[in-house]
Amino acid sequence: MSAERNKTEDDITAEVLQRFAETPDPRLRQIMLGLVKHLHAFVKEVELTEAEWFQAIEILTEAGRMCSDKRQEFILFSDTLGVSMVVDLLSHRKPDGATESTVFGPFHRLGAPELPTGGNIAQLDKTGTPTLVSGRVLDLDGNPIKGALLDVCQAQSNGLYDSQDAGLGGLHMRGKFRTDAEGCYLVRTVRPVNYPIPSDGPVGRMLRATGRHPWRPAHIHFVVSADGYEPVTTHIFDRTDEYLGSDAVFAVKDSLICDFVRHEGRESRGGEAERLGIDPPFLTAEFDFHLKPASERRATVLDAQQRLAALGAAD
Ligand SMILES: [Fe+2]
Repeated sequence: MSAERNKTEDDITAEVLQRFAETPDPRLRQIMLGLVKHLHAFVKEVELTEAEWFQAIEILTEAGRMCSDKRQEFILFSDTLGVSMVVDLLSHRKPDGATESTVFGPFHRLGAPELPTGGNIAQLDKTGTPTLVSGRVLDLDGNPIKGALLDVCQAQSNGLYDSQDAGLGGLHMRGKFRTDAEGCYLVRTVRPVNYPIPSDGPVGRMLRATGRHPWRPAHIHFVVSADGYEPVTTHIFDRTDEYLGSDAVFAVKDSLICDFVRHEGRESRGGEAERLGIDPPFLTAEFDFHLKPASERRATVLDAQQRLAALGAAD
C-alpha cells in the first residue's frame, strides 16, 4: 500500500486528461485533450490567483449577456485576440487563386433585403460620399458565375453599424445582390469609413487596459456564395486608410486592398452613375471575387455563421 500524499496541480491535470482519454469521437478527443493540456499549462504559467479566476468568470458572463441578434461579444474577443485570423489562415493555407477570406466580424445580422443591381444600401446615410462598387464573380478559370449571391454590409459614415445606432429602428447598410449572366454585380453605397470596434463591453476594457487602439481600417463586408462553390467571407479595404497596418482585429490581407477612385466633375460621371442619378463627387471601386469549387469540409462554414446569427436572434 503506497503512502498517502497530497495531490499536486500536475496530478489534477493528469487525472482530467485521463478522464477525457476515452472520448469516442477521435477529433473531439484530440480537441479536449489539447484544450485541457494548454489551459492547465496557462493557469500554472501565470499562477492565476482565485481573484483573477473569478474576474475571468465575470468577464465571460458579461460577454454572454451582451450577445444578441445585434451583438456578438465572443466573436469580438476572438477577433481582437487574433484567434479568428489564426483559424482563418489555418483553413485557407494554400494560395489557390480564390479570393482570400477574412474575419466574419461581430455585426452580421439576418434578414438583409435582396436588392436589384445598383440597389442602394445606404439610403438613410446623408453624409457619406456616394460610392459604386462593381465587379464580377468568377470561377478559378475566369468564367463568370451567374446568380451568385453577395451578402453585403458596412458601417454607416458615422462609424456605427445599424445595430449600434440608437436613432435607427431596423436594418441599414445591408443588402443581398445577385450577379447577372456575365457574373457582374453593382452595389450602391457610401464611402466606407474607419471605425472603432465597440468599447462598451469587456473587449473594450481589455483594449484600454492593455494600451491598444480599437480602430479598424475602412472596409465593406462581403459573403459571396454560389451553388457548387465554396462561399467566401471577406472584406474589401480602402487602400488609403491609416489603420491598414494596425487593424484592431488583424484582418487585413494585401489581396483585399482596393482603390476607391474619386470622380469630381460632371465629365467624370460614368454610365452607371448617370443611370442611377448620382452627381459628382462620387467614388467607384472595382473588385472581382474568385470562387473555388465546393468541398464538403468547408461548405458548412456559412451554415455555422447562420446558426450563430439565429442563436442571437432567438433571445
Ligand atoms: Fe466591419
